Amino acid sequence: QKQGFDWYMRKEIFEQPTAVADTLLGRLNDRGELVLDELRISPETLRRINKVVIVACGTSFYAGLVAKYAIEHWTRIPCEVELASEFRYRDPIVDPMTLVVTISQSGETADTLMAIRHAREQHAKVVAICNTNGATIPRESDAVIYTHAGPEIGVASTKGFTTQLVACYLLGLYLAQVRGMKYGDEIAALLGELERMPAAIQGLLDNSQPVLDLAAELADATSVLFLGRHVGYPVALEGALKLKELAYIHAEGFAAGELKHGPIALVSDELPVFVIVPPRGRDQLRDKVISNIAEVRARGARTIVLAEAGDEEARAVASNFIELPKVSTLLQPLLAVVPLQLFACELATVKGHDVDQPRNLAKSVTVE
Ligand code: M6R
Repeated sequence: QKQGFDWYMRKEIFEQPTAVADTLLGRLNDRGELVLDELRISPETLRRINKVVIVACGTSFYAGLVAKYAIEHWTRIPCEVELASEFRYRDPIVDPMTLVVTISQSGETADTLMAIRHAREQHAKVVAICNTNGATIPRESDAVIYTHAGPEIGVASTKGFTTQLVACYLLGLYLAQVRGMKYGDEIAALLGELERMPAAIQGLLDNSQPVLDLAAELADATSVLFLGRHVGYPVALEGALKLKELAYIHAEGFAAGELKHGPIALVSDELPVFVIVPPRGRDQLRDKVISNIAEVRARGARTIVLAEAGDEEARAVASNFIELPKVSTLLQPLLAVVPLQLFACELATVKGHDVDQPRNLAKSVTVE
């Protein structure tokens, strides 16, 4: 069943081009409109909502953090993202005008389930983004957008995450379409770019040997930092989570702008630092990230830089340079996360850990 792969996780990483393509399938009708047939909430209701609240846990929460950037940018609807485990305990402000979006690969996570029950008690509309047909969370939601990743066996979520990102982008674009914020050509252009993502992911997978070599070189690291800004920040968090759960290495993800506010004190020649650089065209942001890289490098850190192909300024401050295909900023997480998944999988393999069943973890967390 592992089809020649050593781990389900590695197989699932390599399934991402197909999983992403399947999640995008059949989304454009012959009038050039985005269709989300399964979203059984009327356009009128979606036009009335005045706030989006995303609730999720772990990797799914990080997908939600990316979604906030896309949804707010495309729709101008305020969007909050909250850990499901915190949500109902702080008496959150939700009402019938709130669209609550839950993201859960398994559809069985207890914290997320409790959060949506609470939201529905406040009469909010709830949309679930889920990978498991008929699971409890989609059953208890008003509507569901299924991701089509196929079963995810590895405890660490990989294709679950990238397909959640796709579903979030689709939801954001659909809201923008329904509310008249985006029209035919723009939607078609963004969908066209999404449709190029499977090939771009495949390209990263085909050229992943340097990432695997790097994992072998860094097998003795005791702590690793991940930095990113904008949508690169949740990717940094996800890179760190993968490393913690699989390689049992202390890892932290930070917003690169926070570096000077504390984390830089950790930096030394013993600390590898991964940095996700925004694509060109986001030059203000990109310049700042590049100077952050120079700052950690000046303190002796090994810098592993993920940046757009041809970004020579980023390459100049990199100890190791991981090239990402050109993509617009909002979609970059779909690509940037792939080398980080492979890195964690490989490092755990080198250390002799059980990648599919990391210690102390369960695939779905069905108790609060
Ligand atoms: O099934 P869910 O998406 O609700 O799961 C949420 C988290 O438990 C899950 O993403 C967890 O963080 C993974 N082990 C991450 O790899």
